[in-house]
Amino acid sequence: MHYILVSDAISEEGLAPLLEMEDAEIIQKRVDDPEVPLDKIEALLVRSATKVDEELMEKMPSLKIIARAGVGVDNIDVQAATKRGIIVVNAPDGNTISAAEHTFAMMASLMRNIPQAHQSVKNLEWKRNAFVGTELYGKTLGIIGLGRIGSEIAKRAKAFGMSVHVFDPFLTKERAQQMGIISGSLDDVLMNADIITVHTPLTPKTKGLLNEQTLSKTKKGVFLLNCARGGIIDEKALAKFIANGHVAGAALDVFETEPPGENPLFKFDNVIVTPHLGASTKEAQLNVATQVAKEVKMYFEDKPVLNSINLPAMSKDIYEKIRPFHHLAKQIGSMLSQCVKEGVNEISVTYSGSVVDLETTYLTKALLSGFFKNRIDANVNEVNAMLTAKERGVTVGEKISSNTFGYSNCISVMIKGDIRNYSIRGTFIENYGPRIVYINDFNIDFFPDGNLLYIQHIDRPGVIGRVGKILGDHHINIATMQVGRKEVGGEAIMILSCDKPLDDEKVKLLQELDDIVSINQIIL
Ligand code: NAD
Ligand code: MLT
Repeated sequence: MHYILVSDAISEEGLAPLLEMEDAEIIQKRVDDPEVPLDKIEALLVRSATKVDEELMEKMPSLKIIARAGVGVDNIDVQAATKRGIIVVNAPDGNTISAAEHTFAMMASLMRNIPQAHQSVKNLEWKRNAFVGTELYGKTLGIIGLGRIGSEIAKRAKAFGMSVHVFDPFLTKERAQQMGIISGSLDDVLMNADIITVHTPLTPKTKGLLNEQTLSKTKKGVFLLNCARGGIIDEKALAKFIANGHVAGAALDVFETEPPGENPLFKFDNVIVTPHLGASTKEAQLNVATQVAKEVKMYFEDKPVLNSINLPAMSKDIYEKIRPFHHLAKQIGSMLSQCVKEGVNEISVTYSGSVVDLETTYLTKALLSGFFKNRIDANVNEVNAMLTAKERGVTVGEKISSNTFGYSNCISVMIKGDIRNYSIRGTFIENYGPRIVYINDFNIDFFPDGNLLYIQHIDRPGVIGRVGKILGDHHINIATMQVGRKEVGGEAIMILSCDKPLDDEKVKLLQELDDIVSINQIIL
């Protein structure tokens, strides 16, 4: 049974994909509710209210996936999740339109004093001269952060006859030209805009992006909007610039602390506010809930998640192509880990043939996860495999080669250990499956699965018989057997696939046989 916790208010209709799962129990309770079995929870669904920090992850040892029903993941410690191998997914575009429309509604309300006028009329006043506004038409809108939401705002601003100046370090001149907007520096936007709206994520770089120093570069009478994240506009600086009349008005949907409590900005009539409503439409809530519920379901069905923050994004089609190699890479990693027992300094992976067209870094991570899984007492997977290697001082290299050794594809791995080096090569053959075709200078051909015995021996008559006899005497059935040698009477290897694993005593008996150099039991 998979225990899935939905900690924040998430559309019930959107959760349908999870509610349909027969092997899942969906718990809709706050994460701090004492009735929640934190140690059993495998998936956690949140909006922005639940803070998912390291302390919480510590209490949730079974947690495998955190799903954010929205865009911003600033309430999740993604680094801590990555370290623990927890996948973080979000719903990047389900609320884009709602957030853009809300920003536009705030902009129009701010410029036409709609909330103030509304309250006045309800107070039985009729002050037509007190609420004279400013047109949007012909004004310059400055957008900081032209991602999904910023782009939708730019389109709407153009339709209103505004000119749009944008600052986004990742925006190309070509895209700006296509959109009919002006791309410039932060200073360009600050100095030219009549209205400035921010649409970046909250990061250490964007925290306090609009502060006393940057605000002093803006036009006197500028209007400001923050419908992205509290803190991108420094609230203290904003209060100062509203009080001294430099900023003509501000519209805020988000705050440095939420809920904001007594906030000095609330005393200004020209500051209008909403309680983080950007994504609060029926449509957006259904979209984001459905997106993350599908992601979590796919995760439990062992299918690729599409919108992971800490894994490469992969479509279903691509995943189907990469799946056999993903399995092969994991098996190779696990085999190597069981053969090379000493410390390892370097793992280099070379891809050749058809596999090079796929996401090879993902395969390298799978190989590392297979390698570390048996070695360290932590959840290692594709999310934290590179980090795990780095933390343990293992250098990881990845190369592409044109040498396919006669196969249509190859994954070749070389490990530099403290005592010796080790190399292995695998391939995936259509309608046949994964094969290991080379180990340490020996050509061989076996299926990497089940209970394997990798025996290095001297090529002399009788060795195979002696090994077979010991296994037979102990009722261990040999399913397949492959041998390889370099020259008659020289070093040789055999790979036996047995129907059950051997205990240490039987491995020792084999080890003591004449002409046996070494034995590794590999369980895949
Ligand atoms: P996005 O990732 O598509 O766009 C963010 C853009 O910001 C990117 O183009 C990026 O290049 C740019 N950027 C990053 N750092 C920057 C910097 N230092 N200066 C300038 N630009 C920078 O994200 P999005 O979907 O457009 O959402 C933006 C933010 O809006 C989210 O991170 C979220 O915090 C917020 N949001 C709020 C609500 C709400 O309810 N109020 C709803 C949805 C999203
Ligand atoms: C988001 O980042 O998607 C928004 O903050 C929406 C939300 O969760 O309310």
